[in-house]
Amino acid sequence: MDYRKFLSTRSKARVPSAIRALMPLYNKKDMISLAAGMPNPETFPYASMSVTLKSGEIITFDDDLFRRSLSYDYTSGMPQFNQWLRELQIREHAPPCKEFDLSIGSGSQDLFTKAMEMFAEPGTALLVEEPTYAGALSFLKSEPVDLVPVNTDSEGIDPEMLDRILTSWPELNPTGKKDQPRPQVLYTVPVGGNPTGVSSTLQRKKRTYEVCQKHDILIIEDDPYYYLQFKTPRTPSYFSMDVDGRVLRMDSMSKILSSGIRIGWVTGPKVLVERINLHTMSTNLQPAGVPQLMAYGLLAEWGYDGFFAHVDRVANFYRERRDVFEESLERHLKGLAEWVVPDSGMFVWIRLLGGITDSNELILQKAVKNNVLAVPGVAFMPLNDITPCVRVSYSCIEKDQIDEAVRRLATVIREEAAANSANN
Ligand SMILES: Cc1ncc(COP(=O)(O)O)c(C=O)c1O
Repeated sequence: MDYRKFLSTRSKARVPSAIRALMPLYNKKDMISLAAGMPNPETFPYASMSVTLKSGEIITFDDDLFRRSLSYDYTSGMPQFNQWLRELQIREHAPPCKEFDLSIGSGSQDLFTKAMEMFAEPGTALLVEEPTYAGALSFLKSEPVDLVPVNTDSEGIDPEMLDRILTSWPELNPTGKKDQPRPQVLYTVPVGGNPTGVSSTLQRKKRTYEVCQKHDILIIEDDPYYYLQFKTPRTPSYFSMDVDGRVLRMDSMSKILSSGIRIGWVTGPKVLVERINLHTMSTNLQPAGVPQLMAYGLLAEWGYDGFFAHVDRVANFYRERRDVFEESLERHLKGLAEWVVPDSGMFVWIRLLGGITDSNELILQKAVKNNVLAVPGVAFMPLNDITPCVRVSYSCIEKDQIDEAVRRLATVIREEAAANSANN
């Protein structure tokens, strides 16, 4: 594929950092480097590192790797860790394009925002799901692009609407700009969507990929909940069906190892991953070394089987919470709201009934007063449309508090619905 037409002027202007470009040569055997202005690790006070797992096992990290993790390293991450993740992608996704590249970042947010910037040519339009991840919106709304929402339902993104938008462009352009170029990029959260908890079915993914092929659209697959799928086998990713090299896939350790270690990785066409690396070279230089070693040291010890066993345990943990939460929703919210039972992740998207058209004040004022927190749906609407929906999460609430939280929410919804019916 020729990727140049997708790149923003800003991204095209990115060139390698003269010093960072030499990085791969520093560790070459027999090389004497006078080039690097690296601080001498001899001066660093840290001698070694070990972590204690909850199982009681203590992992002491390799001394050489630990020393390396304290210094500057490759833009795309510690090579051993990068290689480990590469092999993971092959085992899990068996990508049809063998020529992919991988780069580690400071969380997937770091990487997908760099990807978005790479495509955000001023004045162009970008396709997003409605509703979609508020963290992506907060970045995109500061970019010089217009957002084009694509509906989602209980099976994920609606590929027929995507096709209609692109086929009839600019007729369905929400900005009404008749001379705006057709969008070239789709941002999607295909599994355990944040805020919906809904995953795109395999059929929907296949059809969406087909539509993207038909209209030559690149896909940013932001998939931090991929390993939190409750059903096995996991629904295949877009990356696993990407015969053309049009998918830039974002993964994250945030939901499976730790969110504080800030580790994410992007996998996709070499040309595009290279553009992200060029961005990193000029901003945060590289992902932090110590968190990479914390992750890699553990994963190398566990091996792939250990990793897969771990993510299964994590998915089970959330599945159990989901079950308890669902019982409480049935008990307290039946008739007051509608929802789709999530099959992955940690969220439920609740549509309030009883004549409620805007959840914002109800959630921010009345629910807070009744000591229950949730997120009003407007935070996830690409065009800030009012919505009767609310995002709730069962991830961190203790099982014995779930019922009380849902009961409190039900109380304020019931009161609002009663007030609405009295006014009508
Ligand atoms: C859809 C989505 N993408 C990305 C992120 C950020 O992930 P990370 O911690 O890897 O930056 C989140 C976090 O909630 C998310 O829900």
